[in-house]
Amino acid sequence: MQRICVVGTGYVGLVTGTCLADFGNRVVCVDADQQKIAQLREGQIPFYEFSLGELVERNVREGRLSFSTDIARTIRKSKVIFIAVGTPSDAAGRADLGQVFEVARAVAANLNSYKLVVQKSTVPVGTGAKVQAEIEKHRTKAVVFDVASNPEFLREGSAVEDFLRPDRVVFGAWSPKAARILTEIYRPLILNETPIIRTTVETAELIKYASNAFLAAKVSYINEMALLCEKVGADIKEVAHAMGLDRRIGHRFLQAGPGYGGSCFPKDTLALQHFSREAGFRFSVVDATIAANKHQQKEMTARAIELVEKTGSREVAVLGLSFKPETDDMRESYALKLIPALQRKGARVRAFDPVAMDTAAHLLRRVRFCSDSYDAATGADLLVIVTEWNEFRMLDMRKIRRLMATPNLLDCRNIYDPEAMERLGFRYVGIGRGAHLKKKSRKGKGGAR
Ligand code: UDX
Repeated sequence: MQRICVVGTGYVGLVTGTCLADFGNRVVCVDADQQKIAQLREGQIPFYEFSLGELVERNVREGRLSFSTDIARTIRKSKVIFIAVGTPSDAAGRADLGQVFEVARAVAANLNSYKLVVQKSTVPVGTGAKVQAEIEKHRTKAVVFDVASNPEFLREGSAVEDFLRPDRVVFGAWSPKAARILTEIYRPLILNETPIIRTTVETAELIKYASNAFLAAKVSYINEMALLCEKVGADIKEVAHAMGLDRRIGHRFLQAGPGYGGSCFPKDTLALQHFSREAGFRFSVVDATIAANKHQQKEMTARAIELVEKTGSREVAVLGLSFKPETDDMRESYALKLIPALQRKGARVRAFDPVAMDTAAHLLRRVRFCSDSYDAATGADLLVIVTEWNEFRMLDMRKIRRLMATPNLLDCRNIYDPEAMERLGFRYVGIGRGAHLKKKSRKGKGGAR
């Protein structure tokens, strides 16, 4: 059992602190935001994440997890300090490390006994060394400490599951003592035979970017492949399925869509691009990934606008607002690009999302939030599926068709079958359904051959 302080009660910090408490450690999650800490003490989770509420409640009840705004006192009482504060991108795409160094200085000021400082939020390579230098510079006593990197690979919506049953755990440490403490903290996973990768701090820092940028590249690749499918009359779903059967490729992250969003991929690819350049290296695949993502978003928005303009649509229904299903996170969500663009063209937007409407209400203006998908579709001239929530996969499309004023459907996630939708009377637009488009144009030229 270790005494752990987790600084930052955002997504990463709260999931990490709660799961480490569940492993049997004593964890205090600290945050400067008094309101957030007050909420957490009352058992309210500040964001939507499946099963996190129950886990927080159980670990608080069993005395392993608590919340505080007193960072100095908590650091003094802890042996291990996890840094899980925000690292937003600045205007140039660089990760802003201001909050990370603030924690380093708080550790320096409260270095009353050996401490292990573990960097959890994603930071550019070299930050661990800078955190070490910052603590050395500001400490008032010559007490020994270590810095380590333990990147998270949590997906929103399944973060608890990802933490408790990860594909791997990465520890970057310079001292054997730091690696030993981390091994003890993660003992339950080691007993489950989770692969543990022990590296230097720099390698661990890079593993996180290498993994996220690779996944982002996979998404950009399939998105560009989808655009090519339309040019050559092929179907992206079939291409992706066949590609995915090659075990070296795999099926995951081969869903064409309106471009990746969220708190990680956009920020991490930009940061990797930036620190690669600073290291004198132009990472051309990452450059292309970012450019393709921007293009994909623009392309999907152009399709929506074309439908609005071509058919004189005034009322647009948007289904799904969060950047992906099972979360209320709106960071870098495609809906935030699409909706204002439609409004600039004079469209009135009605929207429904199973959990993200409260968050979205602070970020979008003049949107009418609806009670369900059918309410959103009522009187609409265009329906856009932005996020593939399960409930949007099983809609009564006959009913939707009846409720809409003009049956235009833009399916940004390729949930529905183009032919089936056209049989129901929709004008259907997806991504990469080139085989269908080709068949239609052949029919238009005198029947299928
Ligand atoms: C990601 C990483 O998966 C996780 O390991 C890391 O720690 C944090 O960043 P997350 O941002 O929660 O997790 O979402 P993820 O499921 O990876 O999706 C990211 C974006 O890519 C979403 O916008 C999603 O819609 C998009 N995506 C994903 C696709 O467009 N197609 C796919 O096939 C997969």
